[in-house]
Amino acid sequence: MKLLEDRILEDGIVLPGNVLKVNQFLNHQIDPELMYAIGKEFARLYNEEKITKILTIEASGIAPAIMTGLILHVPVLFARKQKSVTMQNALFTAEVYSYTKKTKNRVAVDQKFLHKTDRVLIIDDFLANGQAVNGLLNICEQAQAEVVGVGIAIEKSFQDGARLIKDRGVRLESLARIASFDDNQVRFVGGKGLEE
Ligand code: G4P
Repeated sequence: MKLLEDRILEDGIVLPGNVLKVNQFLNHQIDPELMYAIGKEFARLYNEEKITKILTIEASGIAPAIMTGLILHVPVLFARKQKSVTMQNALFTAEVYSYTKKTKNRVAVDQKFLHKTDRVLIIDDFLANGQAVNGLLNICEQAQAEVVGVGIAIEKSFQDGARLIKDRGVRLESLARIASFDDNQVRFVGGKGLEE
């Protein structure tokens, strides 16, 4: 998606440890128009799939997910990282290990909101090692809901996440695919890079 790639080149900052800082438009300050365009693109890609629910994980997955849900006219459910006092019903839970933060989170979704009749589209902002998406896939498995696909805004294609999702037989659509951060320059799969 050219709009997103251009924005990454314009406002993204490569940090040590292969981390891309995009808090100008995605992870802290959010550009709603860009999020709307991202939502439109996911909705276009999965238009034929009769999606009944979008599933994401807090916090930064919520913005692209909610725009996708708005356009597809379906509810958006986010897995919580901390149990809220309002979560009194039975839960589906999964362990999510963050390689970036070296922390383990048990994420949870109220069983009331995910059913075996659901056709789920999983949305997230970043795909790195795929642990977050893997946790969401496990939650859908517990609910016996069908996962139609995964939509990712920014995929770091040099990490394991994309392969992990495809190995589970799940369709993956990523709007910007980063091949490398060599010399602190963002290079996309297919060749486009900073100085071109
Ligand atoms: P994984 O889920 O793909 O395995 O990712 P990993 O454990 O490596 O990363 C954990 C967190 O770091 C996730 O957010 C993920 O979105 C984010 N992340 C991974 N790589 C990058 C990167 O290059 N840039 C940025 N900005 N974030 C990255 P999180 O902890 O769930 O945070 P949030 O959604 O609450 O913001």
